[in-house]
Amino acid sequence: MQAIVLRETGGPSKLHLEEFETPVAGPGEMLIAVHFAAFNRRDVFITQGLYPGIVFPVIPGSDGCGVVAAHGPGASGPAVGASVVINPMFGWGDNPRVWRSDSTLLGMPRHGTFAEYVTVPAENVHPKPARLSEQQAAAIPLGGLTAYRAVFTRGQCTQDDVVLLPGIGGGVQTLALLFAKSAGARVIVTSSSDAKLERAKALGADVAINYKTSENWSKDVRAASGGGPTLIVDSVGGETFAKALDIARPGARVVVYGGTTGDAKIRPFSIFWKQIDILGTSMGTPADFAAMLKLFAESTIEPAIDEVVPLAEVPAAAQRILDGNQFGKVVVAIR
Ligand SMILES: NC(=O)c1ccc[n+]([C@@H]2O[C@H](COP(=O)([O-])OP(=O)(O)OC[C@H]3O[C@@H](n4cnc5c(N)ncnc54)[C@H](OP(=O)(O)O)[C@@H]3O)[C@@H](O)[C@H]2O)c1
Repeated sequence: MQAIVLRETGGPSKLHLEEFETPVAGPGEMLIAVHFAAFNRRDVFITQGLYPGIVFPVIPGSDGCGVVAAHGPGASGPAVGASVVINPMFGWGDNPRVWRSDSTLLGMPRHGTFAEYVTVPAENVHPKPARLSEQQAAAIPLGGLTAYRAVFTRGQCTQDDVVLLPGIGGGVQTLALLFAKSAGARVIVTSSSDAKLERAKALGADVAINYKTSENWSKDVRAASGGGPTLIVDSVGGETFAKALDIARPGARVVVYGGTTGDAKIRPFSIFWKQIDILGTSMGTPADFAAMLKLFAESTIEPAIDEVVPLAEVPAAAQRILDGNQFGKVVVAIR
């Protein structure tokens, strides 16, 4: 089969389109013919060696939509030929509060979706929500799972919230925007780009602030929120996270799922005086994934897709993601 393979670290240029052995579904697994995959920042971090325990060679890609091509021995679930999406989280475990320490993600260490075929445990294979196209369905698994758990399971978002989403250009954040709006919350977003802010407004953002051109973006957010956001969902990290704590409303929840710009020097006073809850989150449980798919199946929301690239253009697209110009998800057309 054709696959994008990473054999060493060194950035996106180390990704190559190759002939790779087609996998065979083992016991309890299904073979999926991937029609569309999608990028996550993780795929780029792995090429740069910015991930623990990288194994080579590896086919990256955590998001995928396609059809069931074969059942391995003992596998049950969607029939051969069914249109499906893949939950990229393996082995969460029994505790809904936190994943098991040996749980893993699709696309390293296990070969991922930037390939014509992928094998996954049958319990990770779900029927595609009928109202989404295959491209749209490929855009939601990892980001949707992360955003759903951040906004709802951990953030407990309701219509009474004023939500801050820093760095709205990110794939996860665009999904968080859709989810917070579906709950009826008021949503403030920030971005480095006016064009991305316009697209966020089209997706329902109530207030859009450019953190590059504003003289003081956190002051602008505080003013626009009428006393500070009640819920902040952040993956930018660094100074953005520290400032977010300073402007959070007393009693606010601050949910963290990433730290793209690095570590933060935070002021404990902002946390204890305002009695803020800081909530870490990563990926999500099987129940979070099912609830996320149900939300897409039963609402009118659609994921933001930046562009659709063929498999051969994955290395160039990974470089563009590194440059940060995308809004929403970059989808990969496999066949
Ligand atoms: N814990 C988990 O389970 C989990 C799951 C998924 C992702 N993540 C992490 O979450 C982060 C985002 O992932 P993604 O796939 O959504 O990434 P992405 O699509 O590459 O988006 C990253 C976004 O970060 C924003 N950004 C960068 N520097 C910024 C700054 N100085 N101030 C404000 N915003 C800034 C940019 O927004 P603008 O372009 O709008 O400025 C950019 O679009 C990554 O660190 C990733 O590893 C964690």
